[in-house]
Amino acid sequence: MQIESASISQLAEWEKELSTHYERIRQHELNLDITRGKPSAEQLNLSDKLDGILSGDYRAAGGTDTRNYGGLIGLTCARELGADMLQVPTEEVIAGGNSSLTLMYHAVLTGYLFGFAGNTPWRELKAPKFLCPVPGYDRHFTICEQLGIGMINIPVNAQGPDMDLVEKHIREDNEIIGIWCVPKYSNPTGVTYSEETVERLAQLGQIANPGFRIFWDNAYAVHDLGHYVSLPSIRAATLENDTADSVLQFASTSKVTHAGSGVAFVSATGDNLKSLQQQMQAMTIGPDKVNQLRHSRFFTECTSLKDHMRKHADILRPKFDCVLEHLHNGLAGMNLGQWEKPQGGYFVSFNTRPGCAKAVVNLATEAGVKLTPAGATFPYGKDPEDSNIRIAPSFPPLEELDTAMAVFVLCVKLASVRQRLKHLHQKG
Ligand SMILES: Cc1ncc(COP(=O)(O)O)c(C=O)c1O
Repeated sequence: MQIESASISQLAEWEKELSTHYERIRQHELNLDITRGKPSAEQLNLSDKLDGILSGDYRAAGGTDTRNYGGLIGLTCARELGADMLQVPTEEVIAGGNSSLTLMYHAVLTGYLFGFAGNTPWRELKAPKFLCPVPGYDRHFTICEQLGIGMINIPVNAQGPDMDLVEKHIREDNEIIGIWCVPKYSNPTGVTYSEETVERLAQLGQIANPGFRIFWDNAYAVHDLGHYVSLPSIRAATLENDTADSVLQFASTSKVTHAGSGVAFVSATGDNLKSLQQQMQAMTIGPDKVNQLRHSRFFTECTSLKDHMRKHADILRPKFDCVLEHLHNGLAGMNLGQWEKPQGGYFVSFNTRPGCAKAVVNLATEAGVKLTPAGATFPYGKDPEDSNIRIAPSFPPLEELDTAMAVFVLCVKLASVRQRLKHLHQKG
């Protein structure tokens, strides 16, 4: 049935059927969760050889005793792993602790408190702002919100952020000092930035405030579900445009090995790395080098990064298929929502009819299926269209995901029909 052409009585009948079904499900007192993009236990198991891999041999190449203090920028072998993930030279990489989010937070703090590469600290500007491609990663937005950095929504299309709008804002406002980018398999849209988008982003350094930085969060650099998708190199593009200082790249092994105990990386030009190190050296004597060595050995002695990620993909693919099948079988052609098939990453982004996302999430919660709160994918938690819902299929077992998605589809239908009915009643 097409919701737009249905009469009030047809819709009322449909609403009654859906409500009965929904009430039946509520009786089951489900307790399912498809909120966060966490690896499943089965995925974590793939890296269990990390445990014990050092067998008492704590020396890295060159003789460093990794158990001791020191080595602010990380072991060379760990930096090589980061260089491989980000496709950059090892000299341009710092290997840190377990979280790239922490490195991003430190990088924003560095820009805010001290400024990068001799530029004005952002805190000295009247109204420093970041451009935020939306929907995006909630924790990026939380960093800005916490520091009082303003945020401007930039819609994401199939090529990446709307670059006309990005350039317009930067030309009009010299206090735009950053943009968040998840360039491959974006969280949550799954979009990979096109060549043209990367090229235009690389040119921003020519028109922006000299302190402006692109936060290139390549969290899903090696997280292909099928064939390898190549992301145009932002480093190469900025070198060609003489804007290399405008980019800070990030990645980690969080969704490669063990999510809570991986290794994170930041890559940038020498001047930017120097600014980061100046801040880091007041904060730490060095990262967890024992863990860095474990990771390096794991990827030289046990498996290659490529083979390892293939195993992740084999576990994840049926879960993504499950989500997409439910959406297709339950909603295709009904005009009740939009979604894309991602080629990698951790999410399926679903857009309800405008104004329905909160209602869907509430209905699902009431029925025992936890979803990421509506609005979470936007700065300040405010989705102007109340439409985007991020579905994270990785963590629950397939049977649970199957049930959760059946409930999700039902809630989309119910919320949409109720909204339409209300609208028609209000129209009189
Ligand atoms: C885009 C993005 N960046 C960063 C992270 C967190 O990475 P880490 O575990 O390295 O802090 C996530 C995790 O969901 C993410 O989706």
